[in-house]
Amino acid sequence: MHFILERLCDDHKQMMKVLFHLGRQVRVYCASPSDICLDQMIDIIDFIQVYPETWHHPTEDIIYDKLLEKDTPIYSLILRTVQEHNRLEELTLVINDVFNRAAAGESIDRGLLIKTANDYIHQQISHIKVEQARIFPIADQCLDREDWQHIMGKVKSVNHSASEADTPMHDYRGIFQQIANQHPATM
Ligand SMILES: [Fe+2]
Ligand SMILES: [Fe+2]
Repeated sequence: MHFILERLCDDHKQMMKVLFHLGRQVRVYCASPSDICLDQMIDIIDFIQVYPETWHHPTEDIIYDKLLEKDTPIYSLILRTVQEHNRLEELTLVINDVFNRAAAGESIDRGLLIKTANDYIHQQISHIKVEQARIFPIADQCLDREDWQHIMGKVKSVNHSASEADTPMHDYRGIFQQIANQHPATM
């Protein structure tokens, strides 16, 4: 497997851990709301908002663009997955807004909070599963050396913008690890 795909797979594993942690925090918060728990959830959502938009999704989009030029049985699935990146980014804004309003002291219905968080987690996980199970194996099979050289050229500019971001990518990888290893706020 090309090392860019391996890196994306590593991101998925970490993202699953972070989403699992978010789900656990939501359950703890709903059983017993606390500011610590809310702050932890907002940190996780902030992270999910910035990291994929800076490196992960743009890199996948470059690979999927190349894959769409190939004769594959999953053309429409790839198109849908590319569109989903925008939808997931919009959903992150929605959940970010709901949790920040709760943190600002606004009374938010707990049922709405749980539903928003669970829908969000579910959609993120489904997206990752489709990429892992259906798209990455086809990318691995169908893209040749020349395609990867083309992709690498384009990924360079993503790496460049990522290195100019407020928080560089290697810091994000550290933050990822911290969140994944965090203990849930106690009830
Ligand atoms: Fe994706
Ligand atoms: Fe992905």
